[in-house]
Amino acid sequence: MPATGTRKRLADLGAVASGLAHEIRNPLNSLYINSQILAEIVAALPEAADRKEELLSLARANMKVTRRLNDILSEFLRFARPAATEFVVADLNRVVSDTLRFLEVDFARRGIELVASFHPEPLPLFADEKQLRQALLNILLNAEESMDKERKVIRVTTGLERGRPLVRIADNGRGIPRADRKQIFRLFFSTRKSGTGLGLPIVRKIVREHGGKIGIRSREGRGTTVTISLPPEEQSKARFAPRDANRPLPEKVR
Ligand SMILES: Nc1ncnc2c1ncn2[C@@H]1O[C@H](COP(=O)(O)OP(=O)(O)OP(=O)(O)O)[C@@H](O)[C@H]1O
Ligand SMILES: [Mg+2]
Repeated sequence: MPATGTRKRLADLGAVASGLAHEIRNPLNSLYINSQILAEIVAALPEAADRKEELLSLARANMKVTRRLNDILSEFLRFARPAATEFVVADLNRVVSDTLRFLEVDFARRGIELVASFHPEPLPLFADEKQLRQALLNILLNAEESMDKERKVIRVTTGLERGRPLVRIADNGRGIPRADRKQIFRLFFSTRKSGTGLGLPIVRKIVREHGGKIGIRSREGRGTTVTISLPPEEQSKARFAPRDANRPLPEKVR
């Protein structure tokens, strides 16, 4: 655990970075709109106009780049913002099935077989459902993006191991090369053309905030399995509300 001073400085740095990201956003939007107007003006020029095609593709390239920068800023801000967590009693089975429902159509469209297997009993947690869904989504999107075979399969399993609810997401995609494994949780590490490299750092942050653990096993060319285990409901309540045990806890599920 770092010293309070270091933590404070890191928090300050986060605030400065978020401030900076916000400041960059407005001029970036102007740049986007200006490029759009420029593209429209050029598109309306007569076909024979000097270097019309070249100008048009430059203006469109600027639109694309500014949109990309804006996406990076949005994701960064989401990461840096101290999340207002809302812990409630939740069922891991339901959080997982809700997240899967959200992706079903997308998976079907891409020809991905989804094999889900749920623990027969509810898996009670004390958790921020929205954040957990976000973490699962990031992992599932990585699985989806890793697909490189004719038969594409994502297996999602929930269970209980030594009293801890867990969820396992396994893909049969390209796997993570050994050299990359140490890096995948690093901020902005990405091997994808349009990846930002924030997906897994966000997952790790959320899992930590829940007192959970994340494990990744991967075999190059064969696939990747991500396992998240979380403390059971009673344990989390003790952890998150140690001084305020008499206050009624928000209950959503029961
Ligand atoms: N299931 C997976 N299969 C193969 N490689 C993976 C998988 N999950 C993560 N990776 C590797 O880890 C890198 C980092 O993942 P992360 O989700 O943090 O960023 P990203 O997916 O590249 O971008 P984004 O910010 O859009 O999520 C990926 O670029 C990829 O190289
Ligand atoms: Mg990702």
